[in-house]
Amino acid sequence: MAQTAMTFPRGREIVLGVAAGIAAYKSCDLLRRLQDRGFLVTVVPTPSSLNFVGRTTWEALSGRPVRTEVWEDAGSVSHVSLGDKADLLIIAPATADLIARVASGRADDLLTTTVLATSAPILFVPAMHPAMWLNAATQENVETLRRRGYIVMEPEVGRLTGRDSGVGRFPETTAIINKVLEISQKNALLVDKKILVTAGGTREALDPVRFLGNRSSGRQGLAIAYESLRQGAEVTLIAGDTVPFELEGARVITVESAEEMFAAMKDEMPSHDVLVMSAAVADARPVSASEEKIKKASLQSISLLANPDLLASISKTRRADQVLVGFAAETREDFESLGFEKLDSKSVDLLYVTNVSGGAVFGEEWTSGSLLSGKGVLHRYEREDKFTVARDIVNQVAEYLKEKNG
Ligand code: CTP
Repeated sequence: MAQTAMTFPRGREIVLGVAAGIAAYKSCDLLRRLQDRGFLVTVVPTPSSLNFVGRTTWEALSGRPVRTEVWEDAGSVSHVSLGDKADLLIIAPATADLIARVASGRADDLLTTTVLATSAPILFVPAMHPAMWLNAATQENVETLRRRGYIVMEPEVGRLTGRDSGVGRFPETTAIINKVLEISQKNALLVDKKILVTAGGTREALDPVRFLGNRSSGRQGLAIAYESLRQGAEVTLIAGDTVPFELEGARVITVESAEEMFAAMKDEMPSHDVLVMSAAVADARPVSASEEKIKKASLQSISLLANPDLLASISKTRRADQVLVGFAAETREDFESLGFEKLDSKSVDLLYVTNVSGGAVFGEEWTSGSLLSGKGVLHRYEREDKFTVARDIVNQVAEYLKEKNG
């Protein structure tokens, strides 16, 4: 089976809302600079803002479809899916009218509906004429937004579109980007945490040419390493045999055999807060690896020696503040109860048990299985994207870290 390389989304998902102000043209540059920083941006303009910058411009710049109303592509329930997917909403420019509509809880276009439907943080970047900004109605509305926990930037003082000047100018793009980076950091779940992830299969040498291996692609572990980075963690990845990948920001240690993986884990474990053991470790290795290629006449049978259980052994020497995540691959129908047995026997906090009946899941971009903890079944997945599962695992890891470390 040809193994395709693993690609990662370039960054965090942002919804860029655009209201109907002349500063809308400046948001084109903001969009570009956000993309430079690795953010993935979906633009949601209000219908009237299209008078300033048209849909085609936003679609061309973002490379994504642009909708303004909930009625477009209603089947995708875009306000909910956009709100769910977004790590951050930015409304730039935010006009007096947009601010008033959000303050009064209106939902009369896709942008304001998304604002109500999301739990992501929202950054408002107001831009308007000074008289409108200083108007008591606007000021009270801004206060309402701030009271609700939204972040409202102060507009800058300077020249406006006409001959006037005063407070109301759209801030410099760099000031907005700095604010975005500050918010992203604050909302990251694993800042200052060190996560050790093992991924891929081990290869147990038989001779210089042959090895015993397995079908693991490492995709699930790689997705967890990526999600941990996204949440601000320092990530060490011990990679066995995986699909090709390039994961910016992670420290990667490559290993081949279970023994090498074990040695690397023992070195790294004390300095990490979390171990995610997604590697498919070979349970046995040839008793000895021949230095010369074994001739076919002598290759009738292979004597094996059991490998240690790396996870079970590491979990015996764990510190109480460390969080351990195990995996299990099962082919039987009662895979969940087998998973619970391994959760116990390997003394881990969380365990993802994959249903691999018929060789399913290996090498795929999707997975089916259940996420278990001592509290029971936390999630069940049926042909789910491995990044979604990774996100849930990372969220749970953050919960356990909080529980253990306060
Ligand atoms: N594991 C390990 N060392 C091994 C075998 C497995 O650390 N020698 C880890 C895996 O990385 C995984 C968990 O143990 O996190 C469960 O792996 P799995 O292959 O499902 O279970 P096994 O313990 O090998 O049990 P069995 O093959 O009998 O189902």
